Amino acid sequence: MTPTTVEREALRDRRHLVAGSVDLWLVDLSAPGTADDLSLLDTSERERAGRFLIERDRRRFVNAHAALRRILSRYVGRAASALRFELEVPHGKPVLVDAPLHWNLAHSEDHAVVGVAAAAVGVDIEALRDRRDVLAMAQRHFNESEVQALRARLPADRGAAFLCGWTRKEACLKAVGIGLRVDTRGLGVGIEPAPKDVRMQLGRREVRLRVQSVSCRRDLLVAVAQETHEPNADVGVRLLEESVADGA
Ligand SMILES: CC(C)(COP(=O)(O)OP(=O)(O)OC[C@H]1O[C@@H](n2cnc3c(N)ncnc32)[C@H](O)[C@@H]1OP(=O)(O)O)[C@@H](O)C(=O)NCCC(=O)NCCS
Repeated sequence: MTPTTVEREALRDRRHLVAGSVDLWLVDLSAPGTADDLSLLDTSERERAGRFLIERDRRRFVNAHAALRRILSRYVGRAASALRFELEVPHGKPVLVDAPLHWNLAHSEDHAVVGVAAAAVGVDIEALRDRRDVLAMAQRHFNESEVQALRARLPADRGAAFLCGWTRKEACLKAVGIGLRVDTRGLGVGIEPAPKDVRMQLGRREVRLRVQSVSCRRDLLVAVAQETHEPNADVGVRLLEESVADGA
């Protein structure tokens, strides 16, 4: 397959990871995108795109997956359209075929984030909206000390604090690939943005993660979790931006 002009540009912009650190790409999904973007997707991605009933949601999906491919192609040195994905068994975390690169995607409304790292990584993003029922949600999903910490906040600050804790839990669960199928109350991540060590028992394997919140915009809550092998590992986060083309 011959790389398109956009793909050749991506290949020229080769990226290298810094050991122990995560590259976190923020993508604005609101642009109309181009036919070139759609042509990067594989059959399964196009089928998924075709199932959206609302055009805005279809556009966001296409933009997110085209951006994901462009970003990953810079690390593995292959054309974006040539990348192949498969789903990990049993929980369906998407991974690259034939490339030892770790990555994870999350999207919320008009933004996506892509974390890229040399070790297992999970990311989450939530757009900050006015949420009134956060204490009730926290009681279902947070542990006792996280609920207490949330109660101690001023009511006006609780929405952001809840989403801070929530994105941290989801980033951890996505790093290990199990997603939200577990009781998240057992996963103590705190509601403060600072880096924190988290341990998870996956069958017989204990996984150690370092989770932190990343401040990129006032209206977005973003968290990243990376697998580490030592306590208090210093996981640096390099914040980058990927843009989506403005029209066909
Ligand atoms: C994974 C999960 C946490 C995503 O939550 P969400 O808030 O809807 O979506 P996010 O924006 O945070 O992340 C979506 C992205 O996560 C990635 N993802 C999907 N499954 C994943 C998993 N098990 N672990 C890590 N990442 C996953 C995908 O790239 C997905 O993007 P896509 O839908 O555009 O392909 C949620 O779907 C979940 O808990 N799934 C449980 C596992 C499951 O049900 N698997 C079914 C197939 S076996």
